Amino acid sequence: MSTDSFPIRRVDHVRHFVNNARQAAFFYQHTFGFSITGYRGLETGSRDQVDYLLEQNNIRLVFSAPMRPGHPMAPLISEHGDFVQDIAFEVDDVDWAYKTAIERGAEGFMEPTWLEDSNGRVRQAAIRTYGNVVHSLINRDEFKGEFMPQFREENEPGDPIGLIEVDHCVGNVELGKMNYWVKWYEDVLGFKNLISFDDNDISTEYTSLMSKVMASGNGRVKFPINEPAPGKKKSQIDEFLEFFGGAGVQHVAMLTDDIIHTVSRLRARGIPFLSVPKTYYDMLPDRVGTIDEDIEVLSDLGILVDRDDEGYLLQIFTKPVTDRPTIFYEIIHRKGAKSFGKGNFKALFESIEREQALRGTL
Ligand code: FE2
Repeated sequence: MSTDSFPIRRVDHVRHFVNNARQAAFFYQHTFGFSITGYRGLETGSRDQVDYLLEQNNIRLVFSAPMRPGHPMAPLISEHGDFVQDIAFEVDDVDWAYKTAIERGAEGFMEPTWLEDSNGRVRQAAIRTYGNVVHSLINRDEFKGEFMPQFREENEPGDPIGLIEVDHCVGNVELGKMNYWVKWYEDVLGFKNLISFDDNDISTEYTSLMSKVMASGNGRVKFPINEPAPGKKKSQIDEFLEFFGGAGVQHVAMLTDDIIHTVSRLRARGIPFLSVPKTYYDMLPDRVGTIDEDIEVLSDLGILVDRDDEGYLLQIFTKPVTDRPTIFYEIIHRKGAKSFGKGNFKALFESIEREQALRGTL
């Protein structure tokens, strides 16, 4: 496609750096139903770092932890808490992608490198984006193994809940930095600004935020970028920036094609979600018209609905999955709609503000 000036095949994986990757992997296996399919650690010759690969359909999550003092990520985990360190892309040509990104103004994180084992070799490089997040650039066309060299195959199945692929990853950046990163994604990665929300779209009585949704040339990678906007009280973005220690990944949205099933399973396994008042569902038929789902069931599960020109979507947000009020997940089911749930923002942010008030951070 001639308009795609930086071809990206897909989000290859999302890597979290944590203090205890074994426990993180266990959590995501037993709640979100991921299978543990790969491992790299002392037993496979990795002396400094442990990595667990978790998969469900097209979603790959990697949980990594330093194995000893002095690991370069240790101070960052101390600073941010558990955090998303890498949103990795699969690309056709790592060397071209890295060189092009650097020429267009990106800061390098890892120069193109061959990673090898008996299954072949993988080419990998990485560039820095906002905060301490990087985008790895990966090509495994010369690799016969499952994921990456030096990983051992694991067979610890989860009980999957219908999560299909990463729909979008949201970054929170500092006040005044949204447009900087919007331009960065345009200039460096050839992304387009799909939608913009200003503080009139996303505000409650107390707080507001601004957001722009960036999408890759082929539309497969979508990154909303948020910044706080001035309000009477501290917004959820300010809260994130304070507790995270700067810009970072706020949430990862995972696509399902049966949100009632997915959310029922997550609730049964104890995952807490943001709640909306029952009055939200009284107004729902007027707002979104006819939908396939029983509103009673949606109300019991706390699932939100929004409609755009192309169809509708159903979505729900977990509470933060870490002690710090930082990273959380969205479960999203698209029935034609390609948007992000603008009609739910107000109800949602009022819900977040109730949680903030409980934390004393509003
Ligand atoms: Fe989202």
